[in-house]
Amino acid sequence: MVTLIVNKQELQVDEGKTLLQVCLDNGIYIPNLCHIHGTDNPSASCRLCFVEIEGEDKPIPSCTVKVKDGIIAKTDTPSVRRLQRTAFKLLMSVHRVDCGHCPANKKCELQRIAKFLKVGLKPKYLELRLKETEVDESHPFLDYYPNRCVLCGKCIAVCKDKHGRAFLTFAKRGLDTVVSSYGETDANLPCSKCFACIRICPVGAITSKDSPRQT
Ligand code: SF4
Ligand code: SF4
Ligand code: FES
Repeated sequence: MVTLIVNKQELQVDEGKTLLQVCLDNGIYIPNLCHIHGTDNPSASCRLCFVEIEGEDKPIPSCTVKVKDGIIAKTDTPSVRRLQRTAFKLLMSVHRVDCGHCPANKKCELQRIAKFLKVGLKPKYLELRLKETEVDESHPFLDYYPNRCVLCGKCIAVCKDKHGRAFLTFAKRGLDTVVSSYGETDANLPCSKCFACIRICPVGAITSKDSPRQT
């Protein structure tokens, strides 16, 4: 066991967990999109889970910190919130906000984070830059909505974890980056009995072809 202090609250927790996981387990919410419960190698791609740790000169993503004795952390300082709001606005500047037609509506992590950070879903003063393709229907069992995807990578990680290899991957680069299925059209893919990617997606970016079309 290790003892640490978060927001002046003393916590005694098992060694080996990340600070983000410990906070979430203890009811201290930190915005996050790319964190997967129980993983040792965080992708740390969403840049939302910042905290301040005493002795560090700038905020650090809490999913990259393993807890140890004596850590004193704050999750709610002005500089943490500034970084989180900036990261969130950038994410939303490439996102098609159309919650009424989205399967994630009311259970969407973006809606939760916007409410928590007290910001709107549609960022002011930032140009909206959307991808041309609204829906990729090339997969035999899944549909993918690039303008809803936050590129967290959870679908790829869970697929690899379940099947020993990922049937999904990131493709293209920079602002064009998307999740792709390698052009797979094989009707024998394990996807028809799996759908773990849909369940883990924090937004509504992957849907089953069997569910009603969401546009
Ligand atoms: S993913 Fe769907 S529910 Fe979430 S903010 Fe985007 S459109 Fe709204
Ligand atoms: S499809 Fe969903 S889980 Fe996969 S990278 Fe996009 S947002 Fe993340
Ligand atoms: S949860 Fe830490 S960077 Fe995404």
